[in-house]
Amino acid sequence: MSGDTAPIVLPTGNPYVGPRAFRSHERLPNRQRAARELADLVIAERVVLLHAPSGAGKTSLIQAAVSRMLRADGFVPTRAARVDKPPPAHGNRYVHSVGVDLLGAETPGLDGLTLTEIVARVEPPLLDGGARVLVLDQLEEVLTVDSTDRGAKEEFFGQLGAALADGSLWALLAVREDYLGGLDRYLRFLPGRLRARYRLDFLDDAEALAAVRTPAEEQGVSFVDGAAAILVDRLARGGGEEGGPRTPFVEPFQLQVVCHTLWRVTCSRNGDSCTEIGPPDVARVDIERALSRYYGDALAELERVHGVEQRVVRDWFEHDLITARRFRAQTTAGPVPGDLGVRLLDALEDAYLLRADTRAGTTWYELAHDRLIPAVLAGNRAWRHATLDPWQVAAYEWRRHQRQRAFLLTGDALRRAPAPACDGLAELEREFLSRSRDEAGLADALGTTNRLAVLACVQAVVIVVLAVLLVLT
Ligand SMILES: Nc1ncnc2c1ncn2[C@@H]1O[C@H](COP(=O)(O)OP(=O)(O)O)[C@@H](O)[C@H]1O
Ligand SMILES: [Mg+2]
Repeated sequence: MSGDTAPIVLPTGNPYVGPRAFRSHERLPNRQRAARELADLVIAERVVLLHAPSGAGKTSLIQAAVSRMLRADGFVPTRAARVDKPPPAHGNRYVHSVGVDLLGAETPGLDGLTLTEIVARVEPPLLDGGARVLVLDQLEEVLTVDSTDRGAKEEFFGQLGAALADGSLWALLAVREDYLGGLDRYLRFLPGRLRARYRLDFLDDAEALAAVRTPAEEQGVSFVDGAAAILVDRLARGGGEEGGPRTPFVEPFQLQVVCHTLWRVTCSRNGDSCTEIGPPDVARVDIERALSRYYGDALAELERVHGVEQRVVRDWFEHDLITARRFRAQTTAGPVPGDLGVRLLDALEDAYLLRADTRAGTTWYELAHDRLIPAVLAGNRAWRHATLDPWQVAAYEWRRHQRQRAFLLTGDALRRAPAPACDGLAELEREFLSRSRDEAGLADALGTTNRLAVLACVQAVVIVVLAVLLVLT
């Protein structure tokens, strides 16, 4: 097993956080200026909306930089609360969700508390002159978790407006920017209609370079001979093609997955002797493969936590999210039906593999990035070869080749495969086995017909020869 295919465990000592948001005790390797600007905006404007594309680093910026700066300036930010929890027996689900995050789900009487009362009870209590900052992350969830409860949304924003009304509470609200339009109808409930806004984008070159270099440098390892710039350049070629068009931005999620892998295959392997990372080390890291491995680990984790067969989820990724021509496709249905399907979709979105988009009350899902297309396809192929019987792998190959006859099972392989009527076969397998049998039956029949025809010809020739001999004698 090469270093590139061992499972992703975050070994202590890997300085890259990997595919998760930075936490409050960690330090961002970059964006100090953005964090300062945002913190100042909150202090000056009191209510601020932070918006950015999904995965641009909103949660990380708040948790690992802005909250600390606000604290240093004498403010008391809450932890980042979300509005995504299931509805309680009574009361407003969005208010209740914030209550669960800020006070704990076991708090007596939580269902009956208003947002103002929830904020007032947050620990530790404010000292005289202290100013609380309510931090709400992923506020777009108020628009997505249930598209039918407009009344509950209005009540939530009404309560938020009431909590902010007397000027003693500050607020930092983070939202995915594709949902800004959806928030419009609720702005009238909020002071200043959320006029103060701050936009974050993906990482620019300088931010990406710092994100590559700084964590390694903190462990005494330097990138030399332009290796960091080469890596950033590869990451910025979003289509995955070396030499393909270069975008002005790097997606930080990809940077984290790739740097985590780079460290593991370069420095974890070399142990103490690792002091430099050069262009050959960077060239050795296969970006698609690193993403493919991340995808595989995420699915294995889903299987462990939710008990959903990896095979089902892999098939869904390949056939519902990727077209035959290898473009991203959109779907409204998860890999399995019902509540479990919804939980899986949420988990896949949290893992940055999916992106959700809600339009007219319907949520569409697609791969989070084009670069995941080859990663998913290669990951699925490798996984099938490692875990399925050869005839099952052949069924996938048959489908991948537009169900051409040449890819059906024949001969010994077909004799060794189970009958199509066997229990527990997937739909594709049953179809593949039936078609293979039909074709083999047809071939047999044709073989028999041909043999009969040859026999008839031979007989005819013999008769003609005998007849000629008879005439001559
Ligand atoms: N400033 C940064 N530098 C490097 N990587 C970052 C930065 N901010 C976020 N990331 C990485 O990007 C991914 C998405 O970050 P996250 O904060 O969850 O984004 P968002 O909240 O906007 O969806 C994570 O893997 C995280 O580690
Ligand atoms: Mg976030």
